[in-house]
Amino acid sequence: MVTRMIEAMHYFPAGFKWGTATSSHQVEGGNNNNDWSKWEQEPGHILRGHNSTIACDWWGGRWEEDLDRVVEGGQNTHRISVEWSRIEPSPGVWDDNALGFYRQILKSAVDRGLEPMLTLHHFTNPLWFMEQGGWLDPDSAQRFERFTRVVVSSLKEFVNLWITINEPNVYIYFAYIEGNFPPGVSDLGSAFTAAHNMARAHAAAYRAIHEIQGHARVGIAHHYRAMRPSRQANPIDRYLTNLRSRSFNNLFPKIIQHGQLRLLGKKTQIPEAINTQDFFGLNYYTLEHVAFDLRKPREIFSRGFFPPNADQSPTGFMANEPDGFLDALKFAKSFKLPIFITENGIEDASDEIRPRYLAQHLRQVWAAVNFNWKVEGYYFWTLVDNFEWERGWTQRFGLWALDPETQIRTKRRSADFYEKVCKLNGLSSEMVHKYAPEIFSEMFPDGGQRDFVSL
Ligand code: BGC
Repeated sequence: MVTRMIEAMHYFPAGFKWGTATSSHQVEGGNNNNDWSKWEQEPGHILRGHNSTIACDWWGGRWEEDLDRVVEGGQNTHRISVEWSRIEPSPGVWDDNALGFYRQILKSAVDRGLEPMLTLHHFTNPLWFMEQGGWLDPDSAQRFERFTRVVVSSLKEFVNLWITINEPNVYIYFAYIEGNFPPGVSDLGSAFTAAHNMARAHAAAYRAIHEIQGHARVGIAHHYRAMRPSRQANPIDRYLTNLRSRSFNNLFPKIIQHGQLRLLGKKTQIPEAINTQDFFGLNYYTLEHVAFDLRKPREIFSRGFFPPNADQSPTGFMANEPDGFLDALKFAKSFKLPIFITENGIEDASDEIRPRYLAQHLRQVWAAVNFNWKVEGYYFWTLVDNFEWERGWTQRFGLWALDPETQIRTKRRSADFYEKVCKLNGLSSEMVHKYAPEIFSEMFPDGGQRDFVSL
């Protein structure tokens, strides 16, 4: 007689959305009219001189086979973005061919039973937009609104879930403070202006979308980086952690909640931005430790780092810190809106850490859902390895590995794991045992342990 092992189950509510997220410039290839394509050609900007070239060749038609991977992987939603420079190659000129391309992808997604989520701005800008001053120009908000109106009018048949801007805080920080995204500016005043204009742009787009599609649901994808003081008992570390976290994590969600922009001592009102999100889109990757550091005036005399004993990704870009995800979810919940996890994932070419990262992070989503926090869906970053901005092709975030030369995709074990989760609408102890045995006893402690007995 075969006895069936009883399994622990982390079930998710019926109708929970399971998906993956991608962005246009990172997967399409062949972009030559946006600020990133120019930036990539200039020496010193991208690690090892890489550039996006044909990326995952979506522009060449490989989106179709990748959408099949989404469906075969048991997912019921996919997040994509549109490339502004293709749709509006010069000011006020609209390219029907580009709009047709996105209509075709979205129609195929819907025909395959997927609910699309669409991002209007994911880090890239048309060259003409940058020549007109980019996000520092007071008219940038109207330009973005004009683009939004065209896109929404053309694609509304297939999309109800809209993200206006992906990670405005990351974009503002890298493009206008750190200077490692185009336009490569390093100036707090510019960062403030860009944030102001982006908030106005978001508010205008929010209204435009609702005007065109009454039932639309609109938000942003906010990047939350969890932070902990390096020395818990040290008041300076604690103070700096708090300041650093507020400067980065509050930037944008609070503006579009209260209509007030505050950034390092400066503030302004943006009344039209009050209450301009219908859900909270949350991107979470990692948690950093923060310590006082005199050598880092630009980072408010603090340093963010991962301790040597952290479960770090291969290039040291991030650490596997699921506790920080709960911080992020708590933050998201404080906005009292439905939540979508719009990105979560890890760079891990050999797929050693990813399965445990996935299990541990899904456990946090499950906890949140079962506290009755209104998490409606989860998008893993990402489907297939793609072009990772200033890090080029040195990092691999895909469920599927990609050889950019041959365009051959190879399924990683994590893809099998995620497929099982999506198909079951849950995470079982058996899955953890199979894909991440090293964390099994941590996730499912046996009854003999002291902690358990003390329950
Ligand atoms: C961005 C993605 C990026 C991912 C991993 C997120 O901040 O939205 O475009 O690929 O991080 O680096």
